[in-house]
Amino acid sequence: MTSGGDSPGMNAAIRAVVRTGIYNGLEVFGIMRGFQGLIEDDIYQMESRSVANIIQRGGTILKTARCKEFLLPEGRQKAYETLKRHGIEGLILIGGDGTFRGAVEFSSEFDIPVIGIAGTIDKDIQGTDFTIGFDTAVNTAVEAIDKIRDTADAHDRLFIIEVMGRDAGYIALHSGIATGAEHILVPERKTDLEDLMLSLEEKERRKKLVNIVVVAEGEGFGGADEVAKLIKKRLPNAETRVCILGHIQRGGAPSCLDRLIASRMGYHAVECLIEGRYNVFVGILNNKMNYVPLENVGKKKGKISDEWMKIVKILAS
Ligand code: F6P
Repeated sequence: MTSGGDSPGMNAAIRAVVRTGIYNGLEVFGIMRGFQGLIEDDIYQMESRSVANIIQRGGTILKTARCKEFLLPEGRQKAYETLKRHGIEGLILIGGDGTFRGAVEFSSEFDIPVIGIAGTIDKDIQGTDFTIGFDTAVNTAVEAIDKIRDTADAHDRLFIIEVMGRDAGYIALHSGIATGAEHILVPERKTDLEDLMLSLEEKERRKKLVNIVVVAEGEGFGGADEVAKLIKKRLPNAETRVCILGHIQRGGAPSCLDRLIASRMGYHAVECLIEGRYNVFVGILNNKMNYVPLENVGKKKGKISDEWMKIVKILAS
């Protein structure tokens, strides 16, 4: 199943799971709409051909949902009964930390091995250098910000651009550095507002009027609109515009990197089931497969190093 927010490359992971499973003589079932489909018995048997021609497609052929019913014991009981009815002996879930938390609870209550595959554009899961969809989302953001810089340059404008990432600032950091953003605001680091304003004032004095401020949606001031208000208050002459990139970051054909990691993780998730390596998620750390116990998910917060922030500051001056 795929669960939580979709991310480009989920289809490539589904394809890898289905084909590796069939190669190993397993029967593979697709669960529609994540935990919701499990509760409602929305399941079908998949063949090798079921996943033909999907590696290049964004979204997820299994659809996805954020399921409130699964948070209740009765919901999880129904889900378990569905699995028993179909004789399903193991579950592979492609999703983010919310999905993994649901899986941990489920596997502790019922005797069903679960394997996670890290799929989220936010890259907010510790224990893996990659999550499926992040690379594509960042490239989408980069393409959009490059275009915005063209018009910002033509009009001498200051753009405040909001990118996704929930509580994580990686999309902002990566897309901001790659587009030469003058400032990047992330939730992991407390923004020094005075420092930001002084820097923008100094740029105004030397007639550097084209500026891009990339704001992660989870950053402390409340998003790009609020940051824009603060800037406008302090720099009334600045021509500011706000752009919220939104769900465009979740769609589109997955990048080559996302297709590769999805294929690799999907293959290894099936291997985990076969080898009895249960209740872990499959990540890639230092170019090696890393199997992280699902119960550890969410215990550590991601960090953005001083070095990165220094690089941002020096390169954007
Ligand atoms: O987790 C992926 C993500 O796109 C976040 O970056 C964002 O905060 C959230 O999902 C948006 O969720 P929804 O599509 O349910 O509004």
